[in-house]
Amino acid sequence: MLHRLMKIAMTSHRFSPLLGRPGSLERVGLLEGDASAEDAVVAYHERTKHHFHRYAASLGYMDWATQPDPFRRYAGADIVRLPLPKAGQPLPYWQLYASEIVPPMPLSAASVSLFFRYALSLTAWKQVGDTTWPLRANPSSGNLHPTEGYAVLPAVDQIGDTAAVYHYAPREHALERRAVLNAARWAELTESFPEGSFFVGLSSVHWREAWKYGERAFRYCQHDVGHALASLRIAAAALGWRLVLQGSVSDDTLSNLLGLDRDEDFAVAEREEADLLALISPNLPASLPTEFKPLTAHGSGVLWRGKANMLSPEHSALWPVIDAVAQATRRCESAPIKEDFSGFPSEDALFGAPIRQGLLTAEMAILGRRSAVAMDGSTAISRAAFFRMLARLIPTQGRRAMPWDAIPWRPRIHIGLFVHRVDGLAPGIYALVRDPDKVDILKRVMHSEFCWQRVPDCPPGLPLYLLQEGDFRALATTVSCGQDIAGDGAFSLAMIADYMDSLATYGSGFYRNLFWEAGMVGQLLYLEAEESGLRATGIGCYFDDPVHAAFGIDSREWQSFYHFTVGGQVEDSRLTTLPAYDFRHSFPEEPNFN
Ligand SMILES: Cc1cc2nc3c(=O)[nH]c(=O)nc-3n(C[C@H](O)[C@H](O)[C@H](O)COP(=O)(O)O)c2cc1C
Repeated sequence: MLHRLMKIAMTSHRFSPLLGRPGSLERVGLLEGDASAEDAVVAYHERTKHHFHRYAASLGYMDWATQPDPFRRYAGADIVRLPLPKAGQPLPYWQLYASEIVPPMPLSAASVSLFFRYALSLTAWKQVGDTTWPLRANPSSGNLHPTEGYAVLPAVDQIGDTAAVYHYAPREHALERRAVLNAARWAELTESFPEGSFFVGLSSVHWREAWKYGERAFRYCQHDVGHALASLRIAAAALGWRLVLQGSVSDDTLSNLLGLDRDEDFAVAEREEADLLALISPNLPASLPTEFKPLTAHGSGVLWRGKANMLSPEHSALWPVIDAVAQATRRCESAPIKEDFSGFPSEDALFGAPIRQGLLTAEMAILGRRSAVAMDGSTAISRAAFFRMLARLIPTQGRRAMPWDAIPWRPRIHIGLFVHRVDGLAPGIYALVRDPDKVDILKRVMHSEFCWQRVPDCPPGLPLYLLQEGDFRALATTVSCGQDIAGDGAFSLAMIADYMDSLATYGSGFYRNLFWEAGMVGQLLYLEAEESGLRATGIGCYFDDPVHAAFGIDSREWQSFYHFTVGGQVEDSRLTTLPAYDFRHSFPEEPNFN
């Protein structure tokens, strides 16, 4: 079978006529000529596939002299250190998903601090010999952390006496005040939102990922945004707050709101690409519309402070195709997406009975989340834990389930599973169809010999199907770039995107959203693995077309967007763990603004 797959991958020419024209790829790559934005996205996606015979273009070695600084800082901006929350918050993990039980915390320096602690803060320093590196609540491909976080807050005691735009500095667990907003501007921004609302924004420094991963880096930046979005949503849930993506804001407006369009503040420093804005509100009733009056760019009269630091002394390679796909996926102001979730399963139907107990506190799961570097190849997972994990990935009726209440579109990411060791379940290939209306089309798209059998005894609302029994450990490893973690976990999976139809329905900008949704699925798997006493790892390195061949997908319409593995990890005993914010740990108080 492997041999067959390799052959398919090496001989397949699933290129569009656009890609087939001599020289057209270059044209698309640089967004010149008559290529549409959708063409550019498709060309980028094809070009950045890993194949058995060729990986996507990258430098091919680590140029340590130009390694980017993972910490952005703005020299000259006031820094507001957030009070480090006391460890040991008692909120049980399961209550993150039972929003009606968690009373909303008032907006204060303490609650803003706890929010960022759970969302984007450092969670540990790791050490081997003289080398140390930090880990964060949000994971990142290669631990390179391209994602930057921003907040637009009202006046908050001990943070600032006026509304302001802040950049979150994770190393210091502090907010850098980038701009002060007058009362009129704050009122204008928030007039249609409930009292106590504020905004968070995310952006990406593409260079941080491109430094190591070259052209495929745009994909990883978007995965990381998805993980961070889920991390923000989950942090909000811990405080009894809601979070909803403001997807109709244009990228120009977002860039302006966060100060990313200010040439004078970046000079030669690496630019950030605006990705998303979310509204956070302690008082957002489930019945309210989740998209409000369009936000407008700042006019004059906003006072900006701070100059961005340079992250690398120089750039060893330029990847123009990343700039091209970034441009092709920028959004104009648009109408909010409104979709019907009435046909989705209820919580009872998905879980059997709602989960009202568990192993961990929310804090233990969130701050203890880690990627497994190796899996033991022996740990099995119980059926109950497996079903619960998968149920968390499905939006419930009326789009109520956290974190799926943060995004307005119906699932566009479905899951192809390689089940290796789940007690009482035959090993094999399975499918979790996250939108009930997509079962039939997936049946048509995948191998015709797949049996599509409902899994006996699984909760009635869980859309889980056995496709083919068998031992697929070697195949799972092979298609995940030969990484043993995919075969040695209890299960691993491919996230299969309803790709072309999504671009046709929502436009080229939705290419980013597909990765965000995949990243959100991944963030839930990370936390659910912790709650089950297991570990997970995101897998961005996989051979795209061989994955499609494994599921019998030979149309470009459906594409794998991310892989994941869950299982029993093998600890790396060479590593020492140091506290995240033991300020005796040496780091320069002020960064090197070169
Ligand atoms: C988008 C993404 C892709 C990743 N791809 C891989 C991968 O292919 N192989 C792997 O071993 N780890 C992978 N990881 C795990 C990262 O290396 C890990 O998140 C990072 O080192 C930080 O460690 P932490 O997750 O324990 O905080 C990936 C993580 C993300 C978020």
